[in-house]
Amino acid sequence: MTEINVDKQFHPLLQPVARRTIEQLTDLNRKVYARPGVSAIDERGEFTQHWTSHLRELCELVHGDARGEVRSILEIGAFEGRSTVFLATFFPNAHIDTIDTFAGSDEHVAMQRAEPLETMFDRNTAAFAGRITKHRGYSYDHLPRLHAAGRRFDVAFIDGSHFADDIYVDTFYCWAMLKPGGVLIWDDYLWGEYANRLANPPAAIERFLEVHAGDYEPLFAEWLVAIRKNETEKARAFWQPRQSRRSRMIRFVLEKLGLGSWQH
Ligand SMILES: C[S@@+](CC[C@H](N)C(=O)[O-])C[C@H]1O[C@@H](n2cnc3c(N)ncnc32)[C@H](O)[C@@H]1O
Repeated sequence: MTEINVDKQFHPLLQPVARRTIEQLTDLNRKVYARPGVSAIDERGEFTQHWTSHLRELCELVHGDARGEVRSILEIGAFEGRSTVFLATFFPNAHIDTIDTFAGSDEHVAMQRAEPLETMFDRNTAAFAGRITKHRGYSYDHLPRLHAAGRRFDVAFIDGSHFADDIYVDTFYCWAMLKPGGVLIWDDYLWGEYANRLANPPAAIERFLEVHAGDYEPLFAEWLVAIRKNETEKARAFWQPRQSRRSRMIRFVLEKLGLGSWQH
């Protein structure tokens, strides 16, 4: 993997957390692999791809010793189940709803497969079948149903389509279903294979981060970006006209005189 240049590759809202993340990775890697079952995941499963976007280190950083408190996880993009198995191993009390077409993403079209993706997913995740609900199909078909059913999640992990339109939709629903204090994770922030720069993940992720600045705490930024949802949302607050000192003084005096509200 090529070296990351924080100033060039990260939105200013993410640069401080990106610098911190890069410093923390080695120590987090050591800690997460010391957790029960984590180092055995790749030996036990059959995975043709070993995407390394540091989901394991991120979960260690954010939930670490409190991982037993995570009860509900929404995953978009299951593929062969490698991240699903990790989530089920690391979060022993969590139920995982995972959505995938099992048809592969745009970038997987040329991938040769000996077996259907879903068959591999089922086999790899069989040991956790009681804690995993699989939703076969497009995220934009399943997410509105989960939302309408009143589902809420402690963690939402977006790793399905990398096309910006799809990520906007996935983000909208995941954010709406995320509990206050919950953690939203996007994979592939640094992915850029679509020729149109604005079709790539940052276009969707950064737009969300800008609109919702003040609604979250940035937790992690590398290939993965993670934020924690604040208890209250500011993004929908109405614009307030700035008042001069003189206007504020006149308003104060009128209110004291019992002359009600007055707009300058
Ligand atoms: C990068 S892979 C997921 C990798 C997996 N999270 C892991 O780490 O092992 C992306 C997956 O998203 C699925 N996918 C792509 N677009 C989708 C969409 N709009 N709705 C649901 N699944 C989608 C693909 O079928 C593919 O399996």
